[in-house]
Amino acid sequence: MRILVTGGAGYIGGFTARRLTAKGHTVLVYDNLTAGHRTNIPADQLVVGDLKDIDHLDHLLVVHRIDSVLHFAASASVGESVTHPAKYYQNNLLNSLNLLERVRRHAIPRFVFSSTAAVYGTPETIPLTEDHPLKPVNPYGQTKLAFEAMLADYSAAYGLSATALRYFNAAGASVDAAFGEAHDPETHLIPLVLFAALGKRPKIDIFGTDYETPDGTCIRDYVHVEDLAEAHVLALEQQPAGKLVTYNVGSGTGNSVREVIRTCEEISGKTIVVNEAPRRAGDPSVLVASADKLKRELGWSPKFPDLRSIVETAWDWHRKG
Ligand code: UFG
Repeated sequence: MRILVTGGAGYIGGFTARRLTAKGHTVLVYDNLTAGHRTNIPADQLVVGDLKDIDHLDHLLVVHRIDSVLHFAASASVGESVTHPAKYYQNNLLNSLNLLERVRRHAIPRFVFSSTAAVYGTPETIPLTEDHPLKPVNPYGQTKLAFEAMLADYSAAYGLSATALRYFNAAGASVDAAFGEAHDPETHLIPLVLFAALGKRPKIDIFGTDYETPDGTCIRDYVHVEDLAEAHVLALEQQPAGKLVTYNVGSGTGNSVREVIRTCEEISGKTIVVNEAPRRAGDPSVLVASADKLKRELGWSPKFPDLRSIVETAWDWHRKG
C-alpha cells in the first residue's frame, strides 16, 4: 500500500510508520513538527507540512498516489485540553476534517484514525468494551468522538473504509532503546516517574489520592507502543470495505499510579520521591480495556503483556539519555 501517515514523526505515529515500512509498505510521513521529531523518521519519508494547508495535501495525495491514510496528527494531553479547548477543537476536529475532505475528494479508499479511551468518559462497567456508552469528560475525548462520528457518516455516505483505534495508555520504547517517548513538555506518567528516578526531576506528583480505587490513585491500562503499532498494521491489512469499525487497543490490565511508581522503583533500583497533589481536571478514575474484539477479529496478540515489560523498555531508553 502507499500510505500517508499524518503525525508520523510523533511517538505512536513513528513506531507505526517504521513497522509499516518494515512490512514493505510505501510510507510518506506528513508532520508539522510542533510535537514530532525529525529523528523519528528517515529524511526521505518526511514531508513537513500542516493539515491546514489544503493545496499541499492535494499535491501529496496525487503525486504520491496515496491509497491509505493513517491519521495520528493531534493534540493529545487530557489536562491541557481542559485548559485550552480551542487548540483541541482546531487541531483535532477542524484540521482533521480538512484531511478527511481531501481523502473523499481524491477517492482514497482506506483511513485509520487514532482515537482514544477518553471517548468513554467515566466507565459504567470495567473492562470497557467498544459498545460502552460514549460520554467523554474532557475536550480531548470530545474532539476524538466527534471525529469518529464524521468517519461513520463519511463511510455510510461515500463508502470510505475506516477504522478507529481507541488507544488506552501508550508507553514503552523499542527493545534496542533506539526510539522512545519524548514529548515537550512531557505530561505522561511513566516518563515523568523515570525522570524522577534519573534525578532529572526532584519528585513525582500523584494527581489525586482519594479516587474510589483500592489505593486511592487512578487506574490506567498501559499498552506497549510496539503492540499499538502492530494493531494499526493489522487494522489496515484486514480492513472491511465501506464501513467504520472501532477497536480498543489496551492490555486489559489496570495499574494504579502508585503501582506504576513502585514498578519504576523496582526496575530502576532508585527511590522516587512522591508528592500527593490534588486531582487533575478531566481524569476518570479507572480506564481498562477489553481488547477481546481486536484479538478475535484481527488476531492481535500483545508481545509486552505486563507493566514490568513495558517499563523495562522505557527505562532502557530514558537511561540512555
Ligand atoms: N499522573 C500523575 N502525575 C503526573 C502525570 C500523570 O499522577 O505527573 C496520573 C494522571 O492523573 C493519570 C495517570 O497518571 O491518572 C496517567 O496520566 P497520563 O497523563 O500519563 O495519561 P492519561 O491517562 O491522562 O492520557 C493518556 C493519553 C491520552 C489518552 C488516555 C486514554 O495521553 O491521549 O491516556 O486513557 F486519551
